[in-house]
Parts: sequence; C-alpha cells; structure tokens
Amino acid sequence: MATSVVHAGKKRKGADDEDHLVAKKSASLPAVAKGEDPMAALAMARHEFGEHGGVNMSIEASATFTVMEPDTMRRMFSGELGPDRDFFIYSRHFNPTVLNLSRQMAALEGTEAAYCTSSGMSAISAALLQLCSSGDHIVASRTLYGGTHALLTHFFPRTCNITTSFVDIKDLDMVDGAIIEGRTKVLYFEAIANPVLSVANVPELCRVAHDKGLTVVVDNTFAPMVMSPAKLGADVVVHSISKFISGGADIIAGAVCGPAKLVNSMMDLHQGALMLLGPTMNPKVAFELSERIPHLGLRMKEHCRRALEYATRMKKLGLKVIYPGLEGHPDHTVLKSIANLDYGFGGLLCLDMGTEEKANRLMNLLQNSTQFGFMAVSLGYYETLMSCSGSSTSSEMNAEEKALAGISPGLVRMSVGYSGTLEQRWSQFEKALSRMQG
Ligand SMILES: Cc1ncc(COP(=O)(O)O)c(C=O)c1O
Repeated sequence: MATSVVHAGKKRKGADDEDHLVAKKSASLPAVAKGEDPMAALAMARHEFGEHGGVNMSIEASATFTVMEPDTMRRMFSGELGPDRDFFIYSRHFNPTVLNLSRQMAALEGTEAAYCTSSGMSAISAALLQLCSSGDHIVASRTLYGGTHALLTHFFPRTCNITTSFVDIKDLDMVDGAIIEGRTKVLYFEAIANPVLSVANVPELCRVAHDKGLTVVVDNTFAPMVMSPAKLGADVVVHSISKFISGGADIIAGAVCGPAKLVNSMMDLHQGALMLLGPTMNPKVAFELSERIPHLGLRMKEHCRRALEYATRMKKLGLKVIYPGLEGHPDHTVLKSIANLDYGFGGLLCLDMGTEEKANRLMNLLQNSTQFGFMAVSLGYYETLMSCSGSSTSSEMNAEEKALAGISPGLVRMSVGYSGTLEQRWSQFEKALSRMQG
C-alpha cells in the first residue's frame, strides 16, 4: 500500500500494541522516589535510541507531523490522541525531541513531568502566567535575579494586573503575613539566590505556602543536582538551562518541571501559556542539551569542589567571601540539611570588595593580567565568569531594593569554572590580588 510505504518509518500503533508500550511517550514520568539521587534518577529515565538504533536519539526536526487517516487530526486536536501515544501535531505544541529532553529534566528534578522552553525567562513567565490570572497576587523573595524581579515588579502589573509582594523569605512570619487569602496564588523564590547566594529553607517555606493553598514555584538555576526543590516539597521547579545545565555558554534555554497536569495545561490549545505565547525550544537545541545532561553531575561536583576550595582560601586571606559551603555562612546548616549528598554547595561564590571601583579593578586584573576568568554575566560555564552584580545582572533593582536584597556595590559574583588546574587558577587569583594590593 502506497501509504504504508510513505509512512514506513513511522510508528502508528494502537494502544494495545506491544511495541507501542515499549516506545510509550508521555509528558509524564514514573514518579521518582523521594530522596533519590538526581544522577541515579537520570540513569533510570528512559534512554531514547536513534531511529536507526543509534545510541543517541534522533532529532525530530519537523515543524509539523502527518497523519495516516484524516480523522486522526480531529482526535489529536480534541486531546484524545497525544504525545503519550506518539501522536504529535505541530512543534510549537509537543515535539518528540524536546519531549525527550524534558523527560531528562523531569528525572533531574524528580517531578512528574517537564517541558523545555526557549529561555529561562520564558519558563518563569509562562509558569507564572499559567498559575495566575488577572487580579491575582504573588509572594516572592526580595532576592531574585534582576530580570525576574523586573518581570514581577513592572511587567506583570502593567500587562496582566498580577501584583507581587516581595518579602524576606528567611522571615516565615513575613511570608505568611504577605499572603492575601483568595488572591495570592504563588510563592516564588530561588533555591540559592542570585546573586547573594542565600539558601531558601524549601521545606519550611512550602509548609507555610501549602497551609494557605499556594503553589510553590522555585527557580533552581543556581543549584541543579545540588538541590532538588520538588523533593523538598516544591510544586514547580523552573530553570534557566542556559547556565549549568548547558555548561557551554552557547545556548539560551529553560524548563518548567512539575505535575503533568500543569505541564499539559500549559499546552492547552485554548488556555496554555506555552502553546499560545509560543516560547518554543528548537529540537536541534534540545538534542544538543540532551547530550550534556548525562555529565551535569560530574561538572557540578567539580564546579562545587573548586568553589569551596577557593572560598576557603579566600577567607584565610582575610577577604570578605560569601559562600554557603563555608561553615560560617548563615545558611550553611540549612543547606547541609537539604542538599543532595556528594555534589557540594554550589558553583558560585561572591567576594565583597567594598566598592564598585575596587571590584572592577580586581576583575580587570583577573581577566586582563592573570587570565583567571572572564568578565561576563551568566554562570555555569567551564571558564570562571565574574560580574559586579549591582551594576549588571541586578541593575534592574533600585538602590533600596538592592540594599534589602543584600547586594552591596562592590559585590563580585564568580561562577567558578573547572578549566585548567585548581592550583594554576589559584595562583592566577593570588597574583591579581597582590597586584591590586601593591
Ligand atoms: C536565577 C536565574 N533565573 C532565570 C534567569 C533567566 O534565564 P535566561 O537568561 O535563560 O532567560 C537567570 C539569568 O541570568 C537567572 O540567573
């Protein structure tokens, strides 16, 4: 039959077909056991082989998908047939390659489902827009990435009448007191906050929020592998994949990880924030990223190992270093009690140089004299990246907001890389410091 020849490579099997069950595709995953190590969970996630038996998955680069019978189209649009049965409509909706990466993200975070997006900001905005309607209210940490802070402070109130109260999430009474019953839908915070590296007490915050029926959304961009907020009670975990998960500083991407019901609602043809706003991930990008996730755990361990070592040595030199892996850090005990074992305490550290002028002088020497790292925003790259947060990634915040968030003008945020040897890099750091003092 001509049609079967045309569609020879295409799986279109019934629900009872054995082959279909082996290849079952779904936005959702079998629940990951609580407390399971993220690398172990990733190893247990289904490995997708290529179309011709390749060890790597194939890239489904098509924007649109054919059907064998005309009625199938109607059944797909009515929601009767979907990606869980290998039926795809159009790649702004589910795409098989993006879905495979999303399955890895769900395994990483221990959530039932996930879906990937074109940026971290689109993941954050789409998740919040799905959970909130006009007139609703969000309680958020006052220490957030500047872009997210601007989204909540300026963009949401202007465009959709969603307002936010910013609180100190260490003060649980303040969090509780900011919740407006009936209106507050979401508690939003970062697991390890950008840039000051304060650590959220996820279980306690979830308890307060869940008591009032809120959905807890946590940005885990700074701590993949290190922390698993969903296993600590969070409902939704969002990521900027552009950072550690990518690791190459070459891709902008994001993900929403959470219950299948939420992920599926985001693809709803009438009401879905991903389907209708369209921050779609390109399947070629999804393929690239899926090749990097298997070594994310190894990379995180090395980022964290070096960050702890440098922080310890910087402290010994008398520098004002902020790193939650140091015993003297106010959040060290909390982080130790909720972090996954064996990954460390995060790949970023901050140095407070006192003034912006001193911060800039140090960064200039570290880049242009001793080659310790690069002056650049972003994080999670194999090279060390340094920026003065107050005048860069947190510049969206006004002086008062920065002061409340603990961002001093001389704060240098360092995303510690793992290229070169640890000792080679340390000597480059010391050299720059001595030139600064000399
Ligand atoms: C904590 C955090 N969340 C979200 C984002 C936004 O991610 P993206 O740049 O991928 O849109 C950033 C970016 O710097 C970030 O640091």
